[in-house]
Amino acid sequence: MFSFWGWGMKPLRKAVLPVAGLGTRVLPATKSIPKEMLPVVDRPAVQYVVDEAREAGIEHIVFVTGRAKSAIEDYFDRAFELETILQGKGKQDVLQALTDALPEPGSMSFVRQQAPLGLGHAIWCARDIIGDEPFAVLLPDVLIQGKPGCLSQMVTAYNETGGNIIAVDEVPREDVSKYGVIDPKDTVGQLIEMRGMVEKPSIDDAPSNLKITGRYILQPEILNLLENQQSGAGGEIQLTDAMARLMQTQPFYAFPYEGVDFDCGDRLGYLRAITHYALNHETLGERARTMFEEALRG
Ligand code: G1P
Repeated sequence: MFSFWGWGMKPLRKAVLPVAGLGTRVLPATKSIPKEMLPVVDRPAVQYVVDEAREAGIEHIVFVTGRAKSAIEDYFDRAFELETILQGKGKQDVLQALTDALPEPGSMSFVRQQAPLGLGHAIWCARDIIGDEPFAVLLPDVLIQGKPGCLSQMVTAYNETGGNIIAVDEVPREDVSKYGVIDPKDTVGQLIEMRGMVEKPSIDDAPSNLKITGRYILQPEILNLLENQQSGAGGEIQLTDAMARLMQTQPFYAFPYEGVDFDCGDRLGYLRAITHYALNHETLGERARTMFEEALRG
């Protein structure tokens, strides 16, 4: 297999999870808990995203947090009192589930985005911890069911091509203005070469109906571009705008992954995620199906 490793391609070890967003689309549920901590069946949404990153070989996760997000940091820490009580009660299975969810000591960092200046600014806030290495970005609002996970699929492609890769998926034309949208050029194997990309275009200006889904593998040069990125759509510093600039000097591909994505930052998207994850749950799936069927019968 052709590989860039031999001539100095640095391995992908780190991922950034921007979790500073306020979750206004799912208020009041998110008034006093971070939206990333909303449960999807039996674990918080962010757990699925961290699991996807770990499955893809990510060794260190940088959370870009904000005020009122400390529950995320606590969730990924030991809970000695709780663990002692569970131990005393002989609840080994629950204890095991807690232990499985724990990261390796020292494998998570937390930095604050002090003002809501946009996704591009959030990623830039992680620059010192990322340093001079390629890194992944996973938007925790977006859960993706895929086997293997979406980021793993991207890493497989990345190990052959290097460069920058973003996950894309088709959306109905009327939804394009909610997303970053790519301007596709040619298809090369599994990957799509692009002419450009645009953040939240109007339906008439959208170059395609291929949305940027929320999984990225990026080279560290993006951080220099973000440093002086002008604000764009919504008056925010947009990652998409910096990527459109990076594309002019580095290989950049879009990757149509295999899987289904759910936007948990939206009430219906969140409900859809719960439905799918319940139906596919290892132990609860069958009973969930019966319950849903009963509920539909009324
Ligand atoms: C962000 C990105 C956008 C992407 C979307 C995916 O937008 O800026 O390019 O398509 O996530 O969910 P946001 O949802 O933060 O407005």
